[in-house]
Amino acid sequence: MDFTVDSATPAVQASFDATPAPRLRAILQSLTRHLHDFVREIEPTIPEWNNAIEFLTAVGKACTDTRQEFILLSDVLGVSMLVETINGQDAGTESTVLSPFHMTKSPARALGDSIDEVGGSRVCVVSGTVRSTSGRPLAGATVDVWQCDENGLYDVQVPDVQPAGNGRGLFTTDELGRYWFRTVAPSHYPIPTDGPVGALLNATGRHPYRPAHVHFIASAPAHEEVTTHAFVAGSPYIDSDAVFAVKKGLLVDFCETTDSELGVRYGVEPPFIHATFDIELEETAS
Ligand SMILES: [Fe+2]
Repeated sequence: MDFTVDSATPAVQASFDATPAPRLRAILQSLTRHLHDFVREIEPTIPEWNNAIEFLTAVGKACTDTRQEFILLSDVLGVSMLVETINGQDAGTESTVLSPFHMTKSPARALGDSIDEVGGSRVCVVSGTVRSTSGRPLAGATVDVWQCDENGLYDVQVPDVQPAGNGRGLFTTDELGRYWFRTVAPSHYPIPTDGPVGALLNATGRHPYRPAHVHFIASAPAHEEVTTHAFVAGSPYIDSDAVFAVKKGLLVDFCETTDSELGVRYGVEPPFIHATFDIELEETAS
């Protein structure tokens, strides 16, 4: 063939024509079309293209067992949220990004346990009910939670300060579909900025902060699993999340309560912070 700027795309697409899996073939041919259109639009110089290769290489090298720079890159480009939203439930609790800190398995804990193994300054109780979108409470549903501490750091970021599993818990709902646990109110925090994604944010004048939130993955038999956050309403950066993950329906009030009945129910001396986050799961199509 005679390679030209215009003949490149059909030639590369045709090279995938014999791909046995139709989905893989469609993905690669679409990728080729969009990637080539992007290159034709940008017309990168050779040094710019080399920079792009070096950047992606650096993103790969920054990944470790406890750090996932590619997820971070996907997050700050809004791709993670696009994928989550496209795949989210049609009804029930909205989904949002997994984000890069779900790196370790959350320890199984009993209802009411604390996920704060360090001893934060103020106790926070998070409670809620997992229901089917039909309204039926889901007994035995699993609720995987993880969050940063009051200083905005996850256990995997500061293993010398926080024991592994701090800020994490895997709970099972009771016979009424309820879950509850003790923790500390999470802080807003910057995503890691000491790697290539941080350099990207710096070069573009973007701040790295995420509003305060608790991560959740809720699942139950015969229901769609949902990956989501409970965002602390009124948190700094709630309108400018660095990873675009905020949805209005996920804002939750984390309020101080002096309610002694609540204190007895959760085994906590008032005053304490209380947040309620109910989760609705869609039944799996049969
Ligand atoms: Fe987070």
